[in-house]
Amino acid sequence: MNQSNPENIYLPKLAVLDRVVDEIDEVKTFFWHFKEEADQAAFRRFRPGQFAQVSIFGAGEFPASLPPSPTEEETFFTIRKVGSVTDALHRLRPGQEFGVRGPYGNGFPMEQYHGRNLVFVAGGIGLIPLRSCIVYALANRDKFGKIQIFYGARVPKDLMYQPLLREWEKAGGFECYLTVDRPDADWKGHVGVVGSLFKKSGVQVPVANTTAFVCGPPVMFRFVIKDLLAMGLPETDIVSTLERYMKCGVGKCGHCCIGVAYVCVDGPVFTFQQIRKLGEDI
Ligand SMILES: Cc1cc2nc3c(=O)[nH]c(=O)nc-3n(C[C@H](O)[C@H](O)[C@H](O)COP(=O)(O)OP(=O)(O)OC[C@H]3O[C@@H](n4cnc5c(N)ncnc54)[C@H](O)[C@@H]3O)c2cc1C
Ligand code: FES
Repeated sequence: MNQSNPENIYLPKLAVLDRVVDEIDEVKTFFWHFKEEADQAAFRRFRPGQFAQVSIFGAGEFPASLPPSPTEEETFFTIRKVGSVTDALHRLRPGQEFGVRGPYGNGFPMEQYHGRNLVFVAGGIGLIPLRSCIVYALANRDKFGKIQIFYGARVPKDLMYQPLLREWEKAGGFECYLTVDRPDADWKGHVGVVGSLFKKSGVQVPVANTTAFVCGPPVMFRFVIKDLLAMGLPETDIVSTLERYMKCGVGKCGHCCIGVAYVCVDGPVFTFQQIRKLGEDI
């Protein structure tokens, strides 16, 4: 008789909600830890760009990016309330339990980018999946060339992670440019779509030996890709993450397939060349 008891890959590990921070309208950051220390230690070996499956008991499960960098202590998700399960997470209170499976997916191969310039371009909540690799790159500043962050939102109150943005704007050793489409009375910064920052006086986007990370709403993605390609960046040096409907998260159910690719295991990080070859319309 086979007495082995292989781990059930669909069984989430128990997590406890520590605290909740408001980000922007309908978006909150949920700080949490695993109940078991061993689970926490195993999970903290995640790579920037990976994701996890979040289970809210009695409501369901959904995939979520990992915005913390592995160089940070705390584990957290930043989640927009869009439907029943994300709403159930938004209604949890500190001390309540939920489930987490993962980390899953390929993530950004940050070690392959050592010695290269990194250009991060994010729009709106597209900063959630990029936050991890930006914080990771800044924590390992000496391993990379020039680092530039370009981030835009429709209005100032839609800018995510505001305390961190203020730190990034003030810190030296890298460049951080912010913009909004529509300013309010207090906004003193740049006005225009995120791609307009590339042409801002004094900004020089490096092209040679550069990897560009692009995440944001579809219209922003298309314009930024056009700009980067026009500057001369090869398709293979532009990377992004794809969000597709997922169920299992581990390459079993086929829900996330685009052509031959399983977004949950082959992605969610793809080069723009791969995205184009998959025929994927972001
Ligand atoms: C790899 C990955 C990482 C993600 N990371 C985050 C994150 O960090 N923060 C965050 O807020 N959300 C993230 N999402 C999206 C999140 O998983 C969905 O918003 C969530 O599944 C919605 O569940 P729900 O039951 O609340 O809403 P549902 O009732 O399932 O859906 C509500 C609405 O959202 C749309 N929707 C649901 N899932 C997706 C999806 N995957 N892509 C596009 N539209 C969708 C539906 O069409 C519907 O209009 C991620 C998705 C993937 C695949
Ligand atoms: S989500 Fe099941 S195969 Fe990708």
